[in-house]
Amino acid sequence: MSSPTSESVIVCSQSGPLSGKVTVPGAKNSVLKLMAATLLADGVYELRNVPDITDVDYMTDLLVALGLDIERIDRYCLRIVNSGRISPVAPFALADRIRASVNVLGPLIGRFGDVQLALPGGDDFGGRPIDMHLSGLEAMGAQFDITEDGVVGRATGRLKGADITFAFPSVGATENILMAAVVADGVTTISNAAREPEIGDLCAMLRSMGAHIDGVGTSTLVIRGVSPASMQSCVHEVVSDRVQAATYIAAVAMCGGDIDVLRAVPGHMEMLLTRYADMGMSILPIDDGLRVSCHQRLSSVDVATLPYPGIATDYKPLLVAMLATADGTGIVTENLYPGRFRYIEELQKLGADISVDGHHAVVRGREHLVGATVVAPDIRAGAALVVAGLAAQGMTEIHDVHHIDRGYDNLVGRLASLGGSINRIG
Ligand code: EPU
Repeated sequence: MSSPTSESVIVCSQSGPLSGKVTVPGAKNSVLKLMAATLLADGVYELRNVPDITDVDYMTDLLVALGLDIERIDRYCLRIVNSGRISPVAPFALADRIRASVNVLGPLIGRFGDVQLALPGGDDFGGRPIDMHLSGLEAMGAQFDITEDGVVGRATGRLKGADITFAFPSVGATENILMAAVVADGVTTISNAAREPEIGDLCAMLRSMGAHIDGVGTSTLVIRGVSPASMQSCVHEVVSDRVQAATYIAAVAMCGGDIDVLRAVPGHMEMLLTRYADMGMSILPIDDGLRVSCHQRLSSVDVATLPYPGIATDYKPLLVAMLATADGTGIVTENLYPGRFRYIEELQKLGADISVDGHHAVVRGREHLVGATVVAPDIRAGAALVVAGLAAQGMTEIHDVHHIDRGYDNLVGRLASLGGSINRIG
């Protein structure tokens, strides 16, 4: 793990109760794929409710290198122009910065029959293979070579519709096959497809562009390919970010208080909200989001991460932080990424009593955490450390905040507006 650097630092001290309203921005894990989808058809696109995060900037750099024109016409709106001059070669230095760079694979091989892409980067949770992306596209007629520089793919003529069954409902593989299948010749069926709300959002945008997709929201997607020339550009609003919503709820869980989380979509986070309620929180739907209250110490629960509609792995650092001050012992089981426990040593610096055994973490709740200097190892763990820092006695400094900036739109400003004692320095 890196040591603190000279970049910005987030400093927080014990806060609460929190109060007020916070508006949840658009979802990182949707917008990056929606941006990739604009490779599929020429025209002028407008994406609204785009979060102001560095992963959007990284994706912009990658897509501009491929030939798109992209401009932020206001803080939350991107105008993307695809004038048909696409070079399907994604430079290593740009593709390596984010996992979602792999999402150009489907549109490029689907529309142009040609792609060169460095193996994607992103958070380091251990191995993050793309075998299901490649084998699905191969079933449709693409051929791939893995070279020292990454993946080189080609197809002769249009890809052909195929029946594809995933061994695991991979989010990225579902998205890539979807984007290739909408312009393939014939019908593609994806069985055991991922069902995340962000995939529903991608399907909605692809339908606005002229795609034929059935089964949206289920684990069987049926895509009837259309000719690439019949696809068109569109205007689309990005779905709300359920992980950012969960973060503000976790802040109330740890600091106490009453807040409204506007634009949170309860139907996208049902299992998590049930877990939060089991821990003792009151969470009620309101007109445009959720009303969240917490006035007592939380009770511990056990949690296991699972693909949607299960409890997402991205929520887990928040849950571990909440359990660190809950009453009792909770066991958290990670079923997606074996390496996603690296932030635990940082929570231990705040006094958390956590032991890790394989893919289980045993969290024994303490009455209080105590401020310390910690390092954000990735996006979600960084946010969990911020939330824990707001609840800890004394002062907490969080370093390596560039990880948090990749996925959180003004986390510090939003928490400060709720009464959190938090600042960003530098
Ligand atoms: N997997 C394979 N082979 C594949 C694809 C996936 O073995 O071909 C395995 C992965 O190694 C991993 C698991 O399947 O163990 C999950 O991978 P998945 O493809 O479902 O995830 P992803 O598309 O790489 C997205 C999000 C992650 C989020 C996961 C799971 C983006 C850019 N990333 O990753 O978000 O954790 O789905 O919900 O959408 C984050 O936002 O902080 C983040 C890490």
